[in-house]
Amino acid sequence: MAWPEGAVVVVTGAAGGVGHACAAWLAERGAQVFSLDRREPADVVGTFVAVDVLDEASVDAAVAAVVDAAGRVDALVAAAGISEEPTPAEEMSAATWSRTIGVNLTGVFLTCQRVGRVMLGQGAGRIVTIASMSGAHVVNNPQQQVAYNSSKGGLVAMTKSLAFEWASRGVRVNALSPGYVDTPLLGSKHELHDQWKSVTPLRRFAEPAEVAAAAAWLLSDEAAFCCGTEMLMDGGYTLA
Ligand SMILES: NC(=O)c1ccc[n+]([C@@H]2O[C@H](COP(=O)([O-])OP(=O)(O)OC[C@H]3O[C@@H](n4cnc5c(N)ncnc54)[C@H](O)[C@@H]3O)[C@@H](O)[C@H]2O)c1
Repeated sequence: MAWPEGAVVVVTGAAGGVGHACAAWLAERGAQVFSLDRREPADVVGTFVAVDVLDEASVDAAVAAVVDAAGRVDALVAAAGISEEPTPAEEMSAATWSRTIGVNLTGVFLTCQRVGRVMLGQGAGRIVTIASMSGAHVVNNPQQQVAYNSSKGGLVAMTKSLAFEWASRGVRVNALSPGYVDTPLLGSKHELHDQWKSVTPLRRFAEPAEVAAAAAWLLSDEAAFCCGTEMLMDGGYTLA
């Protein structure tokens, strides 16, 4: 996989399962990684920059810190995300709805927009958003999560819009939609885990490193013709 030595890469959600794996995968292949998250992990990959993607000023400050340090941004993996406690739609509070949409959709938009401005100025850049099979392909079962699913559906649409607007100016934007990935986001209800695996044809969750390899491919030169693509990797969950 062609990956430019020393590429400056920003990863959000880099203290979490998928983001950390992406940061590690890219750093191991020579990228200069900036790990952005609202909390600092014990095992930071590259340089940690604190950010709360719910806060526009915080996103601005984080992107400015990266540009001050590295002078440019070649790639972004936007992996910061949350899921709400399972709640029937008719009982969901406006606050819960807003928080999930705020982090997963507005927060990713602000991150892509602010990093995108840097990339448009350079005339080059690559972005991967981490969406979900829950965006456009399935409604999860049995947990009810209307805000999460809506946020990811919006994120796929947003990714395609950015891809369309920025393609002619050298910035490629794509979405990666995993099925269940073995990270803290899944919670600790193991009976649910067993149920989810039982309806996944591969009978397991994805490893974060598998998601990282797919994200890295979408960022790489080999994926140069991918523009607004949504790559689904779900262990076959959506087949039946
Ligand atoms: N785990 C899965 O099964 C799965 C499946 C499909 C998609 N995804 C998506 O992958 C992405 C990464 O999730 P994960 O599974 O690694 O979860 P995770 O909980 O391990 O990591 C999420 C990270 O996002 C960070 N974050 C949350 N709110 C933030 C904010 N306001 N500002 C900055 N950082 C914030 C958290 O601190 C955390 O480190 C998410 O967008 C998630 O929706 C996960």
